[in-house]
Amino acid sequence: MADTSFAYLWFLLFLLPIALFLFLYLIVRPRPVNVPIKNRHVFITGGSSGIGLALAHQAASQGARVSILSRSLDKLEEAKHAIRLATGIDVALFAADVRDYNAVQRAVDEAGPIDVLIVNQGVFIPQELEKQDLDQVRFMVDVNLMGSFNMIKAALPKMKNRANREPASIALMSSQAGQVGIYGYTAYSATKFALRGLAEALQQEVIAEDIHVSLIFPPDTETPGLAEENTKRPELTKIIAASSGAMKADEVAKKALNGIKNGSFIVACNSEGFLLAIATAGLSPQRSFLMAFIEVVAAGVLRIAALYTQWNWYSIIEKHTKKK
Ligand SMILES: NC(=O)c1ccc[n+]([C@@H]2O[C@H](COP(=O)([O-])OP(=O)(O)OC[C@H]3O[C@@H](n4cnc5c(N)ncnc54)[C@H](OP(=O)(O)O)[C@@H]3O)[C@@H](O)[C@H]2O)c1
Repeated sequence: MADTSFAYLWFLLFLLPIALFLFLYLIVRPRPVNVPIKNRHVFITGGSSGIGLALAHQAASQGARVSILSRSLDKLEEAKHAIRLATGIDVALFAADVRDYNAVQRAVDEAGPIDVLIVNQGVFIPQELEKQDLDQVRFMVDVNLMGSFNMIKAALPKMKNRANREPASIALMSSQAGQVGIYGYTAYSATKFALRGLAEALQQEVIAEDIHVSLIFPPDTETPGLAEENTKRPELTKIIAASSGAMKADEVAKKALNGIKNGSFIVACNSEGFLLAIATAGLSPQRSFLMAFIEVVAAGVLRIAALYTQWNWYSIIEKHTKKK
């Protein structure tokens, strides 16, 4: 009897995890990859401010040839000056609105073939949908989603035909509000969730060209964009989002760049983001069998944590509504 229990315990504690580990090692797709950035062309949209500017700084100091695109030429010039002061390196500037496909195409043609495209531009105006003008909803959809399509459509043909056949990357800046819906972000969350569908399907379409898609999920990050957004947040959004705290743009850029270089499909920026990534893994691709193992083992417990979080948020909303 003791022998049977021991054999059962042995199977449960050692053989089962090892078998699962081996099985996941064999099936995870796409396979792990490294995307070098040194001496390669990194093109960053929204590179004149916040996370995009921090990315431009770090990519330049790691030896990449960097181009940045945004609307305001003054902000672009300021960014160029700041990057030159910090790194001694000049970045190329492109003033264009991502909503204007022809302007984006001209910028991409002028910039030359891109090895790493970071689609980072984004606008966020928090408000309950009922109170938000449809013009503002359309603005967020146009910049965050259509702008991303415009950039990728303009850059992809030359990325596919790049002379240098090293792995290339397309990275999209989503948000934790693109992993979980949050009060006051109905329109913004929709645009950021949409990037996930775009990224998952696109990865399948470009894998044969050795192009690797990364989807970055920053939490609140100290940037001019967030400072502006904070002045408009509904009270309930402030209470719910306050639990997360804000990261520095440099830290987010570092995590993002590492994720891009490792070819990670999902890039989390902090420990909360790591848990969110596991809890929302769904059918997304996973290159790391270690992460796949964690996702499988932690799924049940994280579902309980997710339900607890929802309970907490709904209790806050209920209390707030009663108080009003
Ligand atoms: N900060 C956060 O808390 C946070 C959290 C999660 C995710 N994110 C995401 O991270 C990304 C960067 O955010 P951030 O906080 O760094 O923003 P930010 O400081 O406001 O910078 C936004 C950048 O995008 C450019 N941009 C805006 N609209 C554009 C357009 N139509 N065409 C071209 N460029 C445009 C801006 O320059 P111009 O205005 O001159 O065009 C600027 O360079 C966004 O996608 C955002 O959704 C931010």
